[in-house]
Amino acid sequence: MGVLGCVLRALRIGLVLAFICFQLIITAQSQDADALKALTQGWGNLPPSWTSGDPCGNRWEGITCTNSRIIAITLSAMGLRGQLTGDIATLSELQILDLSYNKGLTGSLPQSIGRLSKLRRLILLGCGLSGKIPDSVGSLEQLIDLSLNDNNFSGEIPASIGNLKKLYWLDVANNQLSGGIPVSSGNTPGLDLLVNTKHFHFGMNRFSGTISPRLFHSKMTLIHVLFDNNRLSGSIPSTLGLVSTLEAVRFDRNSMSGDLPSNLGNLTHVNELFLSNNDLTGPIPDLTGMNSLNNLDLSNNSFDAAEVPKWLATLQSLTTLTMEGTELEGELPPEIFNIPQLQNVRLRNNRISGTFGLKGSYSGQLQTIDLQNNSISQVIVGLDYNFTLKLADNPYCQEAGASSPFCTKQQDLGSSYTTPVSCIPPRCSSDQIPSPTCKCSYPFTGTLVFRAPPAFGSTNFFTELQRDLLQKLNNFRLPVESLSLSDVSVDQFGYLNMKLAVFPAVQDHFNRTGVFSLAFVFSNQTYKPPKEYGPYVFYASTYTQFGGARSNSKSHTGIVVGAAVGGSVLLLLLVCAGGYAYYQRKRVEKAKQQANPFVSWDSNGAGGDVPQLKGARFFSLEELQKSTHNFSEANNIGSGGYGKVYRGVLNDGQIVAIKRSQQGSMQGSREFKNEVELLSRVHHKNLVKLVGFCFDKGEHTLVYEFIPNGTLMDSLSGKSGIQLDWLKRLMVTLGSARGLQYLHELADPPIIHRDIKSSNILLDERLNAKVADFGLSKLFGDTDQKGYVTTQVKGTMGYLDPEYFMTNQLTEKSDIYSFGVVMLELITARRPIQDGKYIVKEIREAKDGKNDLYSLQRVMDPILLSNTTLLVGFEKYVDLALKCVQEEAAKRPTMGEVVKEIEHIVQLAGINPNADNSSSYEVSIAGNYGHPYSDNSLFQYSGSIPLTRPELP
Ligand SMILES: *[C@@H]1O[C@H](CO)[C@@H](O)[C@H](O)[C@H]1NC(C)=O
Ligand SMILES: *[C@@H]1O[C@H](CO)[C@@H](O)[C@H](O)[C@H]1NC(C)=O
Ligand SMILES: *[C@@H]1O[C@H](CO)[C@@H](O)[C@H](O)[C@H]1NC(C)=O
Ligand SMILES: *[C@@H]1O[C@H](CO)[C@@H](O)[C@H](O)[C@H]1NC(C)=O
Ligand SMILES: *[C@@H]1O[C@H](CO)[C@@H](O)[C@H](O)[C@H]1NC(C)=O
Repeated sequence: MGVLGCVLRALRIGLVLAFICFQLIITAQSQDADALKALTQGWGNLPPSWTSGDPCGNRWEGITCTNSRIIAITLSAMGLRGQLTGDIATLSELQILDLSYNKGLTGSLPQSIGRLSKLRRLILLGCGLSGKIPDSVGSLEQLIDLSLNDNNFSGEIPASIGNLKKLYWLDVANNQLSGGIPVSSGNTPGLDLLVNTKHFHFGMNRFSGTISPRLFHSKMTLIHVLFDNNRLSGSIPSTLGLVSTLEAVRFDRNSMSGDLPSNLGNLTHVNELFLSNNDLTGPIPDLTGMNSLNNLDLSNNSFDAAEVPKWLATLQSLTTLTMEGTELEGELPPEIFNIPQLQNVRLRNNRISGTFGLKGSYSGQLQTIDLQNNSISQVIVGLDYNFTLKLADNPYCQEAGASSPFCTKQQDLGSSYTTPVSCIPPRCSSDQIPSPTCKCSYPFTGTLVFRAPPAFGSTNFFTELQRDLLQKLNNFRLPVESLSLSDVSVDQFGYLNMKLAVFPAVQDHFNRTGVFSLAFVFSNQTYKPPKEYGPYVFYASTYTQFGGARSNSKSHTGIVVGAAVGGSVLLLLLVCAGGYAYYQRKRVEKAKQQANPFVSWDSNGAGGDVPQLKGARFFSLEELQKSTHNFSEANNIGSGGYGKVYRGVLNDGQIVAIKRSQQGSMQGSREFKNEVELLSRVHHKNLVKLVGFCFDKGEHTLVYEFIPNGTLMDSLSGKSGIQLDWLKRLMVTLGSARGLQYLHELADPPIIHRDIKSSNILLDERLNAKVADFGLSKLFGDTDQKGYVTTQVKGTMGYLDPEYFMTNQLTEKSDIYSFGVVMLELITARRPIQDGKYIVKEIREAKDGKNDLYSLQRVMDPILLSNTTLLVGFEKYVDLALKCVQEEAAKRPTMGEVVKEIEHIVQLAGINPNADNSSSYEVSIAGNYGHPYSDNSLFQYSGSIPLTRPELP
C-alpha cells in the first residue's frame, strides 16, 4: 500500500474520530455540565476531581447523576466560597441540594430556585447566606426538607411556604428573620396549611407580633414547635393544645403575655415544655396528664402568686423542674421529691417559706435542689443526703450562717463531661489529634446543640449519647472509628452545647465523600438520637485535611477556571481520547456479540435484532456453571414450579440467584426474548432486579440479584431467625405494595404478577421488601392470546382469587386478592391454609362486626402481641386487607389505593412514608440515608446500593 493509501486511511480514522468526538460532545456530556460550571465559576475550594470532563461521566465528588442528569449536589463542610447564582435553576432534575456548613457561601438565595420543581431537600444550614428568603421557595412542591437555619437571612418568612404540602422539616432558626408568623386567609397561604410538617424550628430570630390562634389546629402533626428567643408577643394560642402529636415546645425568651391555655395538659406526648422568660400572667394551669413531661421550665413570668402546685407530683416522667421567679409561696410539698426520676428542682427567687424537709424516701436520682432567695426558715434533711441543696439568701442562712453547708453561694458549675481515654495518649505530630482509642488522626468536628434539652445531670446522658451515635454512624456504614464529646455547656438561650469529634477508621483522615456523607447524616437529621434527647442541630467545622498528613488545602479555583476557560483544546483532546477508547470498546463488544446466540435468532427470522436490554446482560452457560460449581447441590437454594434456584458468584464478585428452568417447561425462543427484554426494562427498588439471562445450548435461565435475608415467609415462620416488629411489617407491606403498584401502573406494558405470596417477597439486608418472580408465569407459561385472558389458571393455593378461578379472567385485581392474603399472613404469621383453616375466613369471622384489636388476638401472631411497640394503625390495616380479599374483584381497591392507605397508616405510626427516595427508583446518593425522626432501622440504605452512574452511549 502506497503513501496515498496510508494518508487516506489516516484521514478516514480522523473523520471517524471527529464524528465520535462530535457525538460525544453533544450527547455524552451531561446537559447539566454547563449549568454546573456556570454556577460554580469562581467558587473557591471545589473538590479537585472537578477539573476534567463531565460531572456525571467523570464521577465528580459530591455530584450524583441519573441518566446523565445531576440529581444531587452534596458539598458540606469543605470551606466552599462563592455565591449561589440563578444558574442553579438550570439543574432542573436536582432533588437534593446540601451545601451546609460552608460559611463562605454568601449572597442571597436566588428567586429562580423556585424553578427546581423536583427538589426534595434544600439544606443550606450553617452557610453565610443573607437577604430575604425568596417567595419562590413556595413553588418547590416536592420539598420535604427546608433547612435554612444558622444563616443571616432577614425579612419576613414567606407565606408561600404554606403551599409545601409535603414539607416535613421546616428549619429557619438562628437567622435575622422578622415580622409575624403568617397564617392563611382566603387565597393567601400560611403556615397553618402545613399539616404534614413535623418540625417548626423558628428559634433565635426577631419574629414579632402575636401568634394567630389559626396557626395551630387538630389536623396538624407537628412534633417540635420551637419559637424561643424571638420577640413574639400576645398570648400562647389555646389551639396549641389541639396538636396532640407535640413532643417539644418552646416559647421561652419572648414577650408573650396573657394566661396560659388551660388545655396544655392535653399534650400528653410533650417531653420538654419551655415557657420561661415571658410576661405570662394568671394562674398556672393544671398540667396533670402530661405524662411524658421530662423538663418543665416556667421561670420568670408574672403568674398569680400561689402555692407550689400539688399536681406537680403527678408528673411521673419529670426529671427537671424549673420555676424560678414565679411568685411561688407557702411550704414545699415533699411529695414532689417522690417523682421517681427527679434530678433537679430549681426554685430560686420565690417566696417559699416554712420548713424544707426531706427525709425517708425520695427520688434516688436527686442531684440539685436550688432554693436560693426564698423565705425558708428551717431545714430537716437526713444525714445520708447525697444531693446538693442550695439555700443562700433564705432566713435559715441568716441564723445558720457559714456553719451550714447549704448556705454558701456557689457558681453553677454546670455539668462537665469529656469522653474518657482508655490508654496513654500518644504524642501526635503537628495538627493531628489523638482519638479516644489513642490513634493520631484528623477528626471531623463540630458543635452538637440540643435545642430543648432534657435533664443531663448524670454521666449516663453522655455515655448513652456517645454509644448511640457511634452505633448509628457505623450502621450508616460510615468509616468512623471512634468519637468524643467534650466542652459541655448550657448557653444563655437555653441550648445545651457540646463539642463532637468523629475520628476516621482506615486512614488518618476522611476523604471528601466521607465528609459529605458524615455531614449529611447531621444536616439531613438522618442521625436521630434517642427520643428523650429532643431536637438537635449540628454545626460542623470546615474539614481541611482531605489529603491526610502534610496536605494543605489548596484552592482549586484556578484549575477549574483554567479548565473551563483556556482548556477547551485540552478538553477536546481528552474527550477524543475517551471517545477513541469508547470506539475501541464498542468494537470489542461487537466482536463479542457475534458469538452471541441471539444473533442466530435473527437468521432464524425470530424477528428484531439483538435484544434491547437495559441493564440485563447475556451469560454463557460456562459462565453460570463456573459461578455455581457446575450447579452443585450445595448451591441450590430453592426450587419452584419453574425449576431450581442456585446461588452463584460471578467473576466480579457479585452474588446472584440463578433460576434454571426444567427442560421443556420453557416457551419458544422468540417469546423468551420478548419477555426478557420486557423484564430487563423493569426497575424499581421494591422489585428484584434481573441481572441477566442465559439462552445457550437449550438452557433457559434467568439471573437475578441475590437478596440476602430470605423470603417473608421464612421470617414469619421463624425459619430465617429474623423477627419483624409491627413497624417493620408495615414497611414490608408498603415496600411490596409499591413494587406491585409499579408493575400494574407504571410498567409498560403493565405486568400482572399472578403469583403473589409470602415466599415471593424477599427481604434485603435492610429488610426492605422486594417482589420476586414477576412476569415469570408468562415467561414460563403458555402464550397469552387476547391480552389479559389466559387459558389456564396459575397461582398458588390459598392465594388464588376466587373470581379468577371461576372465570379465568385475569386482571390486576387477582394480584390484589393475593396481596390481601399476604397482609393477613403478616398479622397472623400463619400460612394461608393451615390446619384445614383458611386465613381469610378465619379473620373475617374473628373480626365479624367488631372493630378492635382484642377480637383478633386469638388469631394474631404472638410476636406482635408480646412486643411492647404500639400496634398503631392495626385496625385500619386489617380493614384494608379485608377489602383486598373481597370476593368481587370490582370491589377490591387498586394497588395505587392500597399504597396510599398503607402510607397513611405508616404516617400514623409516626414514620414519613416518603422518607426514602421511594418514588424515584435507584436514586441514591453517597451512603444514602433515611429521614429525620423516623425509625432509622427502617430507612437506612445500605452503602451497597450502587450509585447510578450514566454509561457512555
Ligand atoms: C447580617 O445581616 C445584618 C442585616 O440584616 C447585618 O447588619 C449583619 O452585619 C449581618 N451579619 C453578618 C455576620 O453578616
Ligand atoms: C382537652 O382539654 C380540655 C380542657 O381541659 C378538655 O375539655 C378536653 O376534653 C380535652 N380534650 C382531649 C382530647 O383530651
Ligand atoms: C430568670 O431571670 C434571671 C434574671 O434575669 C436570670 O438570671 C435567670 O437565668 C432566669 N432564669 C431562667 C431559668 O431562665
Ligand atoms: C442517694 O441516696 C438515696 C437514698 O439514700 C439512694 O437511693 C440513692 O441511690 C443515692 N443516690 C446516689 C446517686 O448515690
Ligand atoms: C440480613 O442480611 C445481612 C447480610 O447478609 C445480615 O448482615 C443481617 O444481619 C441480616 N439482617 C437481619 C435482621 O438478620
